[in-house]
Amino acid sequence: MTQASPINNQRKTDYPVNSQFTDRWSPRALTGEPIAEAELMSMLEAARWAPSSNNAQPWRFAVVLRSDPQWDALFNTLNPSNQTWAGKASALVAIASANLATKAGSTESVPNGMHAFDTGAAWAYMALQAHLNGWSMHGIGGFNKEAGAQVLNLPANHTLQMLAAVGKRGDAAQLPDALREREAPNARQPLSSLAKRGSF
Ligand SMILES: Cc1cc2nc3c(=O)[nH]c(=O)nc-3n(C[C@H](O)[C@H](O)[C@H](O)COP(=O)(O)O)c2cc1C
Repeated sequence: MTQASPINNQRKTDYPVNSQFTDRWSPRALTGEPIAEAELMSMLEAARWAPSSNNAQPWRFAVVLRSDPQWDALFNTLNPSNQTWAGKASALVAIASANLATKAGSTESVPNGMHAFDTGAAWAYMALQAHLNGWSMHGIGGFNKEAGAQVLNLPANHTLQMLAAVGKRGDAAQLPDALREREAPNARQPLSSLAKRGSF
């Protein structure tokens, strides 16, 4: 098994945060080693505990391991640029949201305007838990969502949001030049440009 490249993490925070937030990042150099289903379930368990509007929990996940019959078809939905690196993922987790919700005390399904927002929170929880467990998760929005929905039998009234490549960090030497140069934790805009007092 090849060694993971050293991490050159230059991230600096404007205010103190727990290091899990700045240590988590999205590598593309992965080893392709198998992942046990129980490892993935720990990440999904974290997602399960995300907050959501009316506790509707609109997030849905389809887990596809490299050894699963759906792997090739799902991998083929990725944009070519993502195929250059995601073939060494151990699993792809497809993240969808349920567009409709049933409010407490009612049996009627109504549109849930927060389904995408809440599912984003679940993805973040999952990615942080993956990091804490020694795995990496790399979000992939660059894929054919219609094709992905077909491969995974997405039910009606659900939106396929993104895929997450899960893997162990590997050797950056395996990446194409342009990606190898970017294989490090990236920066963020200053907090002062994102958060203002009293207005946006
Ligand atoms: C919704 C979403 C879609 C993304 N799509 C892609 C993608 O198609 N290809 C890719 O290489 N990275 C993709 N990323 C990874 C982002 O580029 C990355 O999260 C961002 O640059 C911040 O870097 P970090 O995750 O290492 O902190 C995506 C991330 C998210 C959350």
